[in-house]
Amino acid sequence: MIHNAGGGVGLAALDIAKHIGATTYGTASAAKHEFLKARGLDQAIDYRHQDWLPVLIDLTKGRGVELVIDPLGGKSWKKSYRALRATGRMGVFGMSTASASGILGKLRAMKALAQTPRFHPLSLMNRNKGVFGLNLGHMWGEGEKVSGWMREIMNGVAEGWIRPHVDRAFPFDQVADAHRYIEARKNIGKVVLVP
Ligand SMILES: NC(=O)c1ccc[n+]([C@@H]2O[C@H](COP(=O)([O-])OP(=O)(O)OC[C@H]3O[C@@H](n4cnc5c(N)ncnc54)[C@H](OP(=O)(O)O)[C@@H]3O)[C@@H](O)[C@H]2O)c1
Repeated sequence: MIHNAGGGVGLAALDIAKHIGATTYGTASAAKHEFLKARGLDQAIDYRHQDWLPVLIDLTKGRGVELVIDPLGGKSWKKSYRALRATGRMGVFGMSTASASGILGKLRAMKALAQTPRFHPLSLMNRNKGVFGLNLGHMWGEGEKVSGWMREIMNGVAEGWIRPHVDRAFPFDQVADAHRYIEARKNIGKVVLVP
């Protein structure tokens, strides 16, 4: 289950999941569904207009999924955890529910923190579920490990099963417009800055 499947991370995760033969489910704005299906996503869910959890549970015949990757944070982590099948795992790597500029951003961050679930080890054991996190920004001491991942990704690019998609390029002096474009959720895949 790939949240925000139409983003840069989401598309890369989709390529990797397809490469290992996984059945893929993804949430995204409806306008991105056609593109995602063409890229191989098995089931696209319009999470902005429907509750994605019952849809996913229905699609998996009540079982749930082996892996959820969730960059939304807050109450979304609680729901994603519920979407896991026995021995399934949830990877958390972002908190975009808290992203907004100014005072609104601070309020959203506080709300997301208040809604963040806590996972007790005993409960993880008894429910056969796992939760893990990743923050690349805190991996500076693990250069060897990260470069190993990077080599695999570059192999994927060379072999054609990883297909980075650049949605739009902005010149450096239009960096604010690039941010606005992303915040308006218009991008599918990456937005890049060019000189
Ligand atoms: N922990 C790490 O090491 C790490 C590394 C890279 C990225 N990240 C995090 O992973 C997330 C995705 O990164 P990305 O590069 O794939 O981003 P991206 O290309 O901008 O895509 C993000 C997608 O998320 C959806 N979205 C949901 N809430 C949003 C919000 N409040 N503002 C904007 N978009 C929102 C949008 O899709 P819809 O139109 O479908 O809603 C958007 O297209 C971000 O939260 C980022 O901080 C973490």
